[in-house]
Amino acid sequence: MSSDKEKVSERYDRWTPFYDLVDNFPFISGFQKRWKRQAVELLDPTSGDKILDMGTGTGEILPWITESMEDGLLVGTDISEGMISKARSRIDDIEKVPEDLEIKVVKDDIGSSKFSNDYFNKMIATFTFTTVPNMGKAASECARILKPGGMMIILDTGKPKNPFGYPLFYPMMLSAKIFGRTHMDRDVEGTVSKKFEVTRVRQNMLGMVYTLRCEKQK
Ligand SMILES: C[S@@+](CC[C@H](N)C(=O)[O-])C[C@H]1O[C@@H](n2cnc3c(N)ncnc32)[C@H](O)[C@@H]1O
Repeated sequence: MSSDKEKVSERYDRWTPFYDLVDNFPFISGFQKRWKRQAVELLDPTSGDKILDMGTGTGEILPWITESMEDGLLVGTDISEGMISKARSRIDDIEKVPEDLEIKVVKDDIGSSKFSNDYFNKMIATFTFTTVPNMGKAASECARILKPGGMMIILDTGKPKNPFGYPLFYPMMLSAKIFGRTHMDRDVEGTVSKKFEVTRVRQNMLGMVYTLRCEKQK
């Protein structure tokens, strides 16, 4: 019997050839790209940073993160081999990577990461926390591998704060659960708040899509 982790990685392996097609679908794409761009702006990548993009998928945001970096380290991680190979070819296509900037995509489970304590100073996760098999473990691991004083940006989906959003939320939540193993009904904010100081910095679609800034105490 497959574990939850294997089921998630198999699901995303199967999705790999279509992921960017769906992501670039007219209408959906405009919003998603804008939210992801805004999340990268909040991350504020700077030369010398050590940045982790957790559950990088096809690595869409990796080139955007490199735009303002002259040196440092950028790591994309995922558990799906299919997604990892797509993300690697995306970074191969980046024109002119500064010589002192290292970019890599590696297989790593955020529920039991191989990175050492306090390794990164910035981390980002776009639509990852609602797909990981164990969100509590993922939040603990993020707190372990982020440096004290470091910052993590989370862009994700959840139950709208405004009940007017419920008629849109419940059908979307059920189809995401059935077809995508994505749990939009998770309380990501509540879970990460146990490990970080969390501020909800942005919300869209009546709060169904939100961005969190999570700070680790110095
Ligand atoms: C909905 S996709 C989001 C991909 C990308 N961040 C984006 O915004 O397009 C979620 C990704 O998280 C990955 N993932 C799920 N569980 C994971 C885990 N425990 N560790 C690392 N990556 C994981 C999946 O394989 C998938 O590529």
